Amino acid sequence: MAYQIPLSFPVFGGNEERYTLEAIRSGHLATFGNFINKFEIGLAKRTKTHQTVAVNSGTSALHLAMVLLGIKSGDEVICQSFTFCASANPIVYLGAKPVFVDSEKDSWNICPELLEDAILSRIALGKLPKAIVIVHLFGMPAKMNEIMEIAKKYQIPVLEDAAEAVGSTYAGKSCGTFGKIGVFSFNGNKIITTGGGGALISNDTNLINRARHLSTQAREDLPYYQHLEIGYNYKMNNLAAAIGLAQLEQMDSWIQKRRINNQRYKELLSTLPGISFQNDSEESKSNFWLTTILVDEEITGFTNDNLRVMLMKSDIETRFLWKPLHLQPVFRHLPFYGGRVSENFFKKGLCLPSSVNLTSEDQERIVGLIFKELAKSFR
Ligand SMILES: Cc1ncc(COP(=O)(O)O)c(C=O)c1O
Repeated sequence: MAYQIPLSFPVFGGNEERYTLEAIRSGHLATFGNFINKFEIGLAKRTKTHQTVAVNSGTSALHLAMVLLGIKSGDEVICQSFTFCASANPIVYLGAKPVFVDSEKDSWNICPELLEDAILSRIALGKLPKAIVIVHLFGMPAKMNEIMEIAKKYQIPVLEDAAEAVGSTYAGKSCGTFGKIGVFSFNGNKIITTGGGGALISNDTNLINRARHLSTQAREDLPYYQHLEIGYNYKMNNLAAAIGLAQLEQMDSWIQKRRINNQRYKELLSTLPGISFQNDSEESKSNFWLTTILVDEEITGFTNDNLRVMLMKSDIETRFLWKPLHLQPVFRHLPFYGGRVSENFFKKGLCLPSSVNLTSEDQERIVGLIFKELAKSFR
C-alpha cells in the first residue's frame, strides 16, 4: 500500500539515470563492471581507509562476514537482541547458536555491562563466544568504546551490523569501522539504496579479498571453472552499483536532511509530555535514518498503536520498533541476558515518517494529528 506520507521513501535526484544508462550501454550488467569498482572505492573513501566489497544484500554481507570470522556449527555468537532478524539469521544458517543480549537506555543498543556478563557466563559454561554482533539501530551508534574494550579483553571479534547506520559516526569515526568487519545495507528504504544491496567493510585487506572471492562462487582465477571451496552468488551487480554510486554522491546532504527532520520533530513535540526520543550525543552522531519515539501511555493517555492506527487512517505510514529477537517465537528457546529494556522500547516505540523529501508541512500535519490524539484522550 502506498501512503501519502511514507515511512522512508527513496530519492533519485542525481546521476542515477545517467549512470544506469551508461551501465546498460556498456553491456556490463552482471557482477563485473566499472560502477562496482567506483562504488566500492567511493564507499571506502567515505568510511576512510577501509576496504569494501559490494554484495547483493545486507543479509548476504552478514552471512559472508560470519563465514569469514570462521563461525561454524556448534559455535555460540553473541547478538544484540533489539534488531531485525537478519542480524541473527546467518548465525543459524551456519549451524551456530545466537546468544541474545539486551539494550541500554542511552543508545538503545547492546548494553556493555550485560555483554560482559553474557561473555563470562558462556565462558563459565565452557564456551567462549566466537563473535559479537552489535547493531547501530535506526542509525544510532552503539557504545563502541566500552564494547571494543570488552571485546579486546576477551579477544572476541566484533561484527558491526551498520545496515541502518551508513554515514553515522562515533567519536568522529564511521560506524562499521570499529570491529573486525562492518556491514551496510542498501535496500529500498535505507539511507542510500541500490534496489537491494549491501557491503562488507574492513581494514583487513585479506578478509575483503576473501569476501570478494567467496561472493563470486569461489571461482579460481583460471581459464576454466575450478572451485577449491564452496562459495556464494552474493556479489552486487553493475546496474545496482551504478544507482549506488549516484546515491553515494548525494548521501551527505540526505543525512543532513534526516537530521533536520529529527530536530524538527523534537522541537514540534517538545511540549507534549510522555513522548521521548532516541538521542545522540557529542560522541555519537546518528544519521537519523528513522526518527523514533517512545509513547508513555500513563502520561499521554494513548499508546504507540493508537498513534499508528490514527496516522494510518490519515494515510501516514509509521512502524513499530523491531521486536527484540529473544521474544521472537523462532528464537525464544535461546539464551538471553538482560531484563526488559528492549522489550519496553518495543512496547512503547514508534518510527515516524523520516524520508529525505518529508516537508516541514508534512511534519506539522503529523504532529498536529498527534496533539489531536492527546486532546481526545483528555476529553
Ligand atoms: C539491522 C539490520 N540488519 C540487517 C538488515 C538486512 O539488510 P538487507 O535487507 O539488505 O538484507 C537490515 C535491513 O533490512 C537491518 O535493518
